[in-house]
Amino acid sequence: MSRIITLFNQSGGVSKTTLTHNLGYHLAANKRRVLLIDMDPQASLTQFMGIDPESLEQTVYNAIIDEEPLFIYPETIYGIAIAPTNINLSAAELLLPAATAREYRLAEALAPIKDNYDFILIDCPPSLGILSILSLTAATHLVVPIQCQFKSFLGTDLLLDTIARVKKKLNKNLQIAGFIPTMLDSRTAQETRTLNAVQEQLSQVGTIYPAIPKSIAFADASERRMPLAMYDKKHAAVKVMKKIVKELEKLN
Ligand SMILES: Nc1ncnc2c1ncn2[C@@H]1O[C@H](COP(=O)(O)OP(=O)(O)O)[C@@H](O)[C@H]1O
Ligand SMILES: [Mg+2]
Repeated sequence: MSRIITLFNQSGGVSKTTLTHNLGYHLAANKRRVLLIDMDPQASLTQFMGIDPESLEQTVYNAIIDEEPLFIYPETIYGIAIAPTNINLSAAELLLPAATAREYRLAEALAPIKDNYDFILIDCPPSLGILSILSLTAATHLVVPIQCQFKSFLGTDLLLDTIARVKKKLNKNLQIAGFIPTMLDSRTAQETRTLNAVQEQLSQVGTIYPAIPKSIAFADASERRMPLAMYDKKHAAVKVMKKIVKELEKLN
């Protein structure tokens, strides 16, 4: 059974793309068949995977707007398949409002291929816009990366409202798998307090996964087009991500 996990948070810079890349890697390392989908016109995930967005003749755009079969990059990259994107996808935001059954366009593109994969991870843009709605509508599960800062914690009400609306109107079966606290600097009291607040207030809503430490190594690895485990396999955050992946493998 394939699990389609959307990583969503309307805030930017909370580690959505980094986690999609790294968790995808660890799932593939565990012999799971993994497909990543880049739904952000900024194409960070496509670039983290070592693909030049400008070189692409087809992207997720073709599936969403022209209703063509989803374009999957012809090579797997460290065992991972990817449906890449580029800036053309931003035009979809303008065209989609006029499209029929627009919210289902990604779900429909995935239907014929989803059984080829154990896990499909969808990386969302940092907004509550239509591309995020498509991603939530296509998902079986939702994972919310949440930065351990008071300011990002404030956005969770809006986030939960959006999810509730999607569940009610578009995707009854969407399950909130849980929250991944990210960029934790455990030396600051403020962040520890925020982490405690996340645990207190959100554990009713979903699992609170182990927190990912803040480390410049994530950016260094991405710059080299590698997941952290390939760049520095002994890094403390690698162990944390392996633990999270063990939890994701239990989802059904
Ligand atoms: N755990 C972390 N510690 C430090 N920096 C991180 C961490 N995770 C991601 N980053 C960096 O933060 C920036 C934003 O991350 P990204 O994954 O692109 O976020 P999003 O997709 O939510 O916008 C990137 O430069 C990335 O390398
Ligand atoms: Mg991103």
